Amino acid sequence: MTAVVLMEAAEVSAERVSAIRRMLDEAFDGRFSDDDWNHSLGGTHAMILDGEQVLAHASVVPRTITVGTRQVHVGYVEGAGVTPALHRQGLGSAVIVAINGVIGDRFELGMLSTGEFQFYERLGWERWHGPTWTIHADGRRERTEDEDDGIMAYRTERSGDVDVTSPIVCEHRLGDCW
Ligand SMILES: CC(C)(COP(=O)(O)OP(=O)(O)OC[C@H]1O[C@@H](n2cnc3c(N)ncnc32)[C@H](O)[C@@H]1OP(=O)(O)O)[C@@H](O)C(=O)NCCC(=O)NCCS
Repeated sequence: MTAVVLMEAAEVSAERVSAIRRMLDEAFDGRFSDDDWNHSLGGTHAMILDGEQVLAHASVVPRTITVGTRQVHVGYVEGAGVTPALHRQGLGSAVIVAINGVIGDRFELGMLSTGEFQFYERLGWERWHGPTWTIHADGRRERTEDEDDGIMAYRTERSGDVDVTSPIVCEHRLGDCW
């Protein structure tokens, strides 16, 4: 049951996409918005499946994040959740370990926004301490203070000497920018 399946977005059937959304709605108890969902699409999905059911999920999508003065190819983790009846049985950890592998293979750095710091710290993630910003389509930069304490990063062999106290800037998007 804890075998993790990795699929690119184009490989996931419409039925499976709907099942992922249903599970995330339950995992987040109705707090998973349409914008959150849109942010979860278009990358690589890690899932634990039981027939048609999705028991656990996380996805990693490509984003360019400016870290200090450097543009970094980031694997950004979205839509991480486990069906409520199976919390604390290792399923969430299993999908994040698989996602860590994808980030290590394909990206310079992993990033995500969360309140579940301990869950991710056990799995190699560290908290970001620098200020967060977003950049609008017209080039205007805006501080996103409310996000400052929620960002975490996962280093890969290509991260170089990333400094977690650096300012970080992401492109503006609908819903939560981070
Ligand atoms: C967070 C979540 C994905 C964890 O998945 P999980 O399968 O329950 O977690 P695991 O069993 O793999 O690991 C649990 C371990 O992580 C740690 N942990 C710390 N905070 C935790 C938390 N809030 N939830 C679950 N585990 C947490 C504990 O050490 C725990 O081990 P223990 O049960 O021995 O104490 C799951 O609880 C969930 O879907 N939550 C609702 C949605 C959510 O918050 N998603 C993450 C937002 S980025």
